[in-house]
Amino acid sequence: MSFASGETPSRAADSPFSSASGPNATPLPLRSISADGAVAVATGIGELDRVLGGGLVAGSVTVLGGEPGVGKSTLVLQALASLAAQGRSSLLIAAEESGEQVRRRAERLGAAVDGCYLLATTDLDVVLSAAGQLEPSVLVVDSIQAVSDSACGSQAGSPSQVRECAGRLVRYAKSLGVATLLVGHVTKDGGLAGPRTLEHLVDTVLSFDGDRHQSLRLLSASKHRYGPTGELGLFEMTEMGLSGLVDPSALLLGDRCRGVPGSIAVPVLEGRRPLVIEVQGLVGPTTSGVPRRVAQGVVGGRLALLLAVLERRCHLALAASDVFVSTVGGLRVSEPAADLGIALALVSAVTGIAIGEEVVACGEVGLAGELRRVQAIERRLAEAARLGFRRAVVPQSAPEGPIELELLRAGTLLEAVRLLLGVVPAARSGLRTETCGGPELSGGRDVRTLVRTPPSLVS
Ligand code: TYD
Ligand code: MG
Repeated sequence: MSFASGETPSRAADSPFSSASGPNATPLPLRSISADGAVAVATGIGELDRVLGGGLVAGSVTVLGGEPGVGKSTLVLQALASLAAQGRSSLLIAAEESGEQVRRRAERLGAAVDGCYLLATTDLDVVLSAAGQLEPSVLVVDSIQAVSDSACGSQAGSPSQVRECAGRLVRYAKSLGVATLLVGHVTKDGGLAGPRTLEHLVDTVLSFDGDRHQSLRLLSASKHRYGPTGELGLFEMTEMGLSGLVDPSALLLGDRCRGVPGSIAVPVLEGRRPLVIEVQGLVGPTTSGVPRRVAQGVVGGRLALLLAVLERRCHLALAASDVFVSTVGGLRVSEPAADLGIALALVSAVTGIAIGEEVVACGEVGLAGELRRVQAIERRLAEAARLGFRRAVVPQSAPEGPIELELLRAGTLLEAVRLLLGVVPAARSGLRTETCGGPELSGGRDVRTLVRTPPSLVS
C-alpha cells in the first residue's frame, strides 16, 4: 500500500481529494472506486490506534491539539519510534525545540531509533523540501503554530500563517500520500489556536487532555474522516513517557474514599469501552445571594435538569444550597446514562448517608422523574461485575445483568432513592425514613439514626 516507506504515491488518480473538474470529468460508479488508500496502519501505540479507529491513513492530515506540557511531543515521538520499529520512516519537524532537546527526550523514551529523522526548523519551505527529498511515511510538524511561510508576511502563529501553512501541508500530504500529523496548541477555552478553518482543512482533530499535575491523560477525536469519533484513549504519564492504561477503571477508582456521603460509582461508556468512574456531589448552604452550581466533568445543563427533577419530583429543597458535582479523574461525562448516579450522589450528600462502595448506578432520568433504560447496559454491568461491584441500581426495564450483580430495579428516581438510601424526602412533612433496603445498602448502618436533622431536605 502507499503508506509503506519509500513507496511512490499511487492514490492521486482515485483520491477523493484529487481534482475532478473540467469538461472531461467522468462520474464513475461508486463501487468501481478503489478504497484501498484509506487503510489505517497501526502506529503500535494501542490507545492512539483505538482513537484513530485502527491507525494512521496514508495521505491523511491529523491535528493533535492540547495544552502545553500535556505530552503532545512525547506522544508523537513514541508513535514515530513504534512506526520505525515496523520499518516505517518518519520526519519530525522540531519547530519549538532544538534537535538536542528532542534527542534527549527520545533517549529517555527509548525512541532514538533508526528510521526516525529530525529537522529543527520553523521555515515551511525548508520543511516541504526536506520532506520531498526524504519521502517519509509519516511527517510530524511540532507545532503548526511555530512554522511560517515567508511569502505570507505575518507572524508565525497568526491565523493567516496557520491557515497558509496548514493548507500547503495538506496539499503535500494528499499529493504524496504521506500521513501527516500537526501538533497544535489550544487556547485558554480549549479550542485550537489559529483559524477555525484549520479544523475544516484537516481530516482528523485529536485532543489530548489531562491535568499536567496528575498522571492521567485522555485522547479523543472531535473530527475523524476515517472512523468514529466516540473512542477515548487513556494514558498514564510516567517517568518513561506515556503508557496506555490497560485497566483504566482500576486507576480511576483507586483513590476512592470509603464511607463518605456524596460518592457513587457509575458505569459509563467511552466509545465502545465501558468504564466505571466515581461521581461526587457536595451540597451546602449557600454563602452568597446566588447559589453556586459547579459541574466538573458533567454537562452544566444536565446538572440543572437533575436539580429541577430532584426539587420537583423528589422534594429536595436545593434552591438555597451551593451544589458541586465532579467526576473523578478528569473524565467528561456527557451521556444521560450518568443521570441516576449524579442524582443519587447529590441525595447522598444532602442526607449524609454514604452509598455502599459495592454499588453502581446507571440510568437516564426523565423530567417526570422516571428512570429510562440506557444503551449497552449489559456491557456496563459486566464491567462493574468484573471490578467486584455487587449491586446495581438500574431502571425497571433493564435486562438481566451478570449473576454476581444484584439488580435494584426502580421505576423512578424517588424509588431509587428509597431503595438505596432508605429515605424518602417528602414535601412539607420533612424526611421519612424507611428500612427497606437502606441500611444494608448504605454500608450496614441504620439510616434512621443517620437522617435526623437534614433541614435542607424539608421544603
Ligand atoms: P511534552 O511532550 O513536552 O508536552 P507538550 O509537547 O504537550 O508541551 O511533555 C511535557 C511534560 O511531560 C513535562 O512536564 C515532563 C513530562 N514528561 C514525563 O513526565 N515523562 C516523560 O517521559 C516525558 C518525556 C515527559
Ligand atoms: Mg511540545
